[in-house]
Amino acid sequence: MQDAAVLHELTPVAEQLLERHLESAIEWFPHEVVPWERGNELRERGFGYRRDSVAPGVRSALMVNLLTEDNLPWYSRTLSRIFGSDSAWGEWGRRWTAEEGRHSIAMRDYVTISGLVDPSELEQARMAQVSSGLVPEPENAVDGMCYVAVQELATRVSHRNTGAALEDPAGYEVMMRLAADENKHHLFYRDLVTSLFKLNPSRAMESLSNQIRSFAMPGTGIPGFAEHARQIANEGIYDLSVHHDRIIEPLVTKQWAVDKVQGLSAAAEQARESLLKHVERLGKVANRMRERRQEAAE
Ligand SMILES: [Fe+2]
Ligand SMILES: [Fe+2]
Repeated sequence: MQDAAVLHELTPVAEQLLERHLESAIEWFPHEVVPWERGNELRERGFGYRRDSVAPGVRSALMVNLLTEDNLPWYSRTLSRIFGSDSAWGEWGRRWTAEEGRHSIAMRDYVTISGLVDPSELEQARMAQVSSGLVPEPENAVDGMCYVAVQELATRVSHRNTGAALEDPAGYEVMMRLAADENKHHLFYRDLVTSLFKLNPSRAMESLSNQIRSFAMPGTGIPGFAEHARQIANEGIYDLSVHHDRIIEPLVTKQWAVDKVQGLSAAAEQARESLLKHVERLGKVANRMRERRQEAAE
């Protein structure tokens, strides 16, 4: 099935999901969640940041999560490339872009006023990343749906865990606003993939299997990304066990019940097998990590 045919068949679904999204939208304003009263303290410090304010892993998570939001122009470009800019597909892409833009506004104001990251380092990193234009580039609409369904959920969990690790009620509030939006984005794509499984189970299975087995979060254009990712994992904000327990396992076994899908081609059967093996391996690694962490804590 060609991409254009899939998009055409799924247009009524996209229309419904967009309508549901808009109906359930709750308007919120960055200026209402940013703790501006911290401005006096910031002025007294000479607008510097406080090196000891958060653990290195938490600072890395703030940097990476914010910089990832900052790279929005290129995600929008990808969405319009794979979904086009007409009908519900285009409308969704534009609405999504507007919502994502709010995330970097709220987060940047919060981290700056709270002195949690070095604002010069943050700006230099933003310039470097956005200038690089590096983003995940799913080849087509089907791969794109499968990738973002996973990625929006992963982003939700990452924002949420970052918020919890801040030990700051104002920061938690900001990050939970973002997480709530990411969840709604995830629901749009999750249900789109569910419909894709009904429309063309083989194509859905092959694509999902590829996307999950090769999954990587956006952010490779961020200076020092590998080191940030290591710090974030050390802090337990996002590591392989979070990835398995909170994202991949629930999606694959519960949400899309991959093991129960029927009517697959031989190639799709193989893709399913590879996917289930991958999830099992990921689960084993996650278990080992949990045990090691427990041992370290004891
Ligand atoms: Fe976002
Ligand atoms: Fe999102």
